[in-house]
Amino acid sequence: MIFTRPPVLGVVPELKEPSTLGVVIYKKGDNFTVPEEAKEYIASLLGEDYLTVIEKSGYKGETGETFTFHRSGKPYRVIFASIGSVEKMDKPLAMYDSLRSAIGAIVSQVVEKDEELQFIYTNPFNIDECTALREALFAAGSASYRLEAFKTEPKRKLTAIKLVYPTGKCGNIPGVLEEAKTLVEAVYLARDFASAPSNKMTPEHVEKYAKELEETLENVHVRVIGFEEAKKLGMGGLVSVGQGAEVKPRLVILEYKGGEEGPYAVVGKTLCFDSGGISIKPSHGMESMRHDKAGGAAALGAFYAAAKTKLPVHLYALLPAAMNMPDGGAYKPGDIVEMYDGTKVEVINTDAEGRMVLADAIAYARKDLKAKEILEYSTLTGSIVVALSHVYAGLFNWNKEGEEHLLKAMEVTGEKVWKMPTDDIYKKALKSDYADIKHVGDRWGGSITAAVYLKHFAKDTPYTHIDIAGTAIPMGGGEKYLPPYIPQAISPGYGVRLYYEYLKNRISKH
Ligand code: BES
Ligand code: MN
Ligand code: ZN
Repeated sequence: MIFTRPPVLGVVPELKEPSTLGVVIYKKGDNFTVPEEAKEYIASLLGEDYLTVIEKSGYKGETGETFTFHRSGKPYRVIFASIGSVEKMDKPLAMYDSLRSAIGAIVSQVVEKDEELQFIYTNPFNIDECTALREALFAAGSASYRLEAFKTEPKRKLTAIKLVYPTGKCGNIPGVLEEAKTLVEAVYLARDFASAPSNKMTPEHVEKYAKELEETLENVHVRVIGFEEAKKLGMGGLVSVGQGAEVKPRLVILEYKGGEEGPYAVVGKTLCFDSGGISIKPSHGMESMRHDKAGGAAALGAFYAAAKTKLPVHLYALLPAAMNMPDGGAYKPGDIVEMYDGTKVEVINTDAEGRMVLADAIAYARKDLKAKEILEYSTLTGSIVVALSHVYAGLFNWNKEGEEHLLKAMEVTGEKVWKMPTDDIYKKALKSDYADIKHVGDRWGGSITAAVYLKHFAKDTPYTHIDIAGTAIPMGGGEKYLPPYIPQAISPGYGVRLYYEYLKNRISKH
């Protein structure tokens, strides 16, 4: 199992001669504020006028901006990073994100230089102390990630990060530390999974990966519907998309039984590779379609976090895993496919494969697993990237009760969603002359017609579709939007934390 190990995270009550020290500061008016508890120590290291030195350098103190003092003795470096101007931040989303960004900026400076980092932060906002502490720890772990599983000589040096927390303002430090560690692991897992090339992560590997998780997590059970069984069950969507590939498709289902509430189902598009199939994609940038399993990665990561933290829920994660390839046996435009729920679908473009495999997974979650509600993540359309770029994911929601909890979750985790229309009138675009419906509409509103198509298979089960094509695949221009706590050139693990946080909100309300 590909698994990048995070550095060891810890919380310590006081500073111990660190090799490198990070200090989170912030701006209020024109002044910089340094954590009270660190002031004396820093002045003893750098001299009383260190803030003047920083200011005279032209440092503005913008969110994530750093300034480094290099020294000969320990700490070898003292790195200041700013949260930004705190008066300008009136929303929790900006507060949490700026805090994470300052810490991420420090970690990015040392991850290839030092083995150990100690840092001290401060929470200048009126936000929950324990949540702020968790986010600080998460940011440090998240920023340390490097995709080096496929490199001969890894560059990452950092193996331990200690957060100096002298105030003890959060009353549950061990609990918060445990949760933060799990979230870091879950996000690492999703990044490894989503970023792995398609020769290292085939549908067969996805199955093995899930089975290894079954071994390491408690109360987890895995069931795999293989190619032959899928054919027998009539899962025409999954079968047709995957039939042209050497490694055949399968539906991987993980179940976690940590309580009675639910069952909840999270579905993730797991296209190990999307060449477009017979409607083949242009070759430029096609390699980014290794990330077309980022939905599955998000579902798997969230599932891991829920099971590892022992959330009291009954949860399923469904990963329809397939490879979309052109081949003599591949499905073709014009084919009519009978789906798992009985719907006959006219195939228009084989590159719209995600909605074919997802439709069967959604129908299975509804019919066989009796899911109370379904949330599904997919890198579904280029159209959502045109609309929202790589900043927001598209939220298409038919789950009224869940919505406030999802938006609350986003405020803390910073994984942004933007609400898109879901009106029934869009169904007109899917009218078919040859079958019950076609699976692609016209050019216009492509992400909306795709969402409405998927909703057809959820029927009356509360259903949320999140199109993460832009946020989970930031390649090709989206890198510039990544905050400093998310490393470049990877799939960031978008959605892992959002669904986990959502579940926590959702169950605490019952
Ligand atoms: N996986 C792609 C969507 C995608 C495109 C994700 C770019 C990330 C970046 C999906 O399977 C796809 O090819 N969608 C088509 C649908 C079309 C044929 C109706 C698209 O968006 O062009
Ligand atoms: Mn496609
Ligand atoms: Zn795709």
